[in-house]
Amino acid sequence: MGKPVFCISTPIYYVNDVPHIGHSYTTIAADVLARYKRMVGYDVFFLTGTDEHGQKIQRAARANNEEPSVFINRVVSGFKRLWEKLCISNDDFIRTSEDRHVNRVQKVFQKIYEKGDIYLGMYEGWYCIPCESFWLDSQLVNNNCPDCSRPVEKLKEENYFFRLSKYRDRIIEHFEKHSDFIRPISRRNELWKRIMSGMDDISVSRAAVEWGIPVPMNTKHTIYVWIDALLNYITALGYDDEPERFNKYWPANVHIIGKEILWFHGVIWPAILMSLEIEVPHQIHAHGWWTIEGQKISKSLGNAIDPIAITDTYGVDAYRYFILREVPFGLDGNFSYTALINRINSDLGNDLGNLLHRTLTMVEKYFDGVLPVYCSESRLGQELIDHATLLKDKIEIEMRELQFSRCLEAIWEFVAMTNKFVEDSKPWVLAKDKTRSADLRTVIYNLTEAIRTISVYIYPFMPNTAVEVQKQLGLSASGEPYPDLKTEWGGIKHSTRVNKGKPLFPRVEMPEAGKLGGA
Ligand code: ME8
Repeated sequence: MGKPVFCISTPIYYVNDVPHIGHSYTTIAADVLARYKRMVGYDVFFLTGTDEHGQKIQRAARANNEEPSVFINRVVSGFKRLWEKLCISNDDFIRTSEDRHVNRVQKVFQKIYEKGDIYLGMYEGWYCIPCESFWLDSQLVNNNCPDCSRPVEKLKEENYFFRLSKYRDRIIEHFEKHSDFIRPISRRNELWKRIMSGMDDISVSRAAVEWGIPVPMNTKHTIYVWIDALLNYITALGYDDEPERFNKYWPANVHIIGKEILWFHGVIWPAILMSLEIEVPHQIHAHGWWTIEGQKISKSLGNAIDPIAITDTYGVDAYRYFILREVPFGLDGNFSYTALINRINSDLGNDLGNLLHRTLTMVEKYFDGVLPVYCSESRLGQELIDHATLLKDKIEIEMRELQFSRCLEAIWEFVAMTNKFVEDSKPWVLAKDKTRSADLRTVIYNLTEAIRTISVYIYPFMPNTAVEVQKQLGLSASGEPYPDLKTEWGGIKHSTRVNKGKPLFPRVEMPEAGKLGGA
């Protein structure tokens, strides 16, 4: 039997501007899940990409005095560079300007039209360009977009419409039957209320926007950018001319998105799939929003931190750790340098870095750098062995719910337990007493094995640190993760020669105000 399959995606990001920490948040979260699933034996398909059409991109290109095609290539390469830097392990990167996407989107549009679910009509209402969304008079808040509060533009044009209203009952039924379709539950409930207040047909073309995919039966129109974008999840998998690839990975297990685009993913997307008679994704997980030092991230406020700059200053793994550790996935969070630096100095430097360094110092001092054989009669460290089994189950449960911060809390509880074990067992006292050499061997062996176990569990979150820890333990000479990711106690062999290196995560000083790295 082949491996079980797991398909995961991020939103495809607009290329009107360079990526900021919000984009990196979703992508890092998806990467952690993808790495974890691969580690526990899944065949993973992890998709990300870029959303390159529509009025917003067209305007951004014009503002830069560039042709849209030139402009988007430049911005896309910035996204790709960032993902590489952040060690994102995506299996595909879809660009909506690619032929494979454009051709399939046109085929899908034609198919839905022929089915009678798309029809020509007249749209009169408002349009929010930053959100690329249509609004009715009654939906505006203080005459502005109800989602982003920015000004909207009046629109009156001939549009193609999708019969969203036709799918209302099926959407309601789907929500009722699949209580875990939308996560977190609070967002599911908000969406439910919005569904209950009505689901009108929606515009799915723009008459006045040139930068888009032409509507196949009327090339004066372009396909509404949200329809174009949502379809990336299936065009990347080869719908519908590569059935083998498509059937292998679809339906997606989880689309990870930010909370502001839940209506598109939780309602419009399943309705389109229902019209195409394709299964809907198992789950949509809508996380919260980051603010920076208490403010919304925005170019006009000048606070959009460049994740490349921040990782140049503080390191990729520290950033990956911080961004998932600091805020429970699902809730909003506030980014602050003070919090980042505190996490680096305390969780990473003091707790993990010191544990490794002091343990390897003891292996060198008491056993000339070679791991001793443990003594099965000594019970020292049994609580670590027992806890490691519990930890494995706990991580599996939290990962299923995408509760990354709770996973890291659980791992750090184990780190704290291991540190306490050093304090309680006092190897430096045992080393002075010849009659306790069996205990000393057991303590040192169990300590290194606990650290190996930690390196396995941190691997999805901090792949570089996991490899570095394994290298120092004498396990991964090649710089690749130690191939044996087994979590059962006893993975490290006695007689392994350790390879103590520099302490991990040296102390970071708090910069003076106004000189924050990456700001
Ligand atoms: O909406 N905090 O693209 P987009 C947390 N192209 N996450 C944030 C964030 C913040 N402050 N800012 C952005 C689009 N994000 C469409 C999507 S999908 C078929 C089409 C993340 O460039 C979060 O994942 O505006 C959010 O949903 C996404 O970036 C929006 O990216």
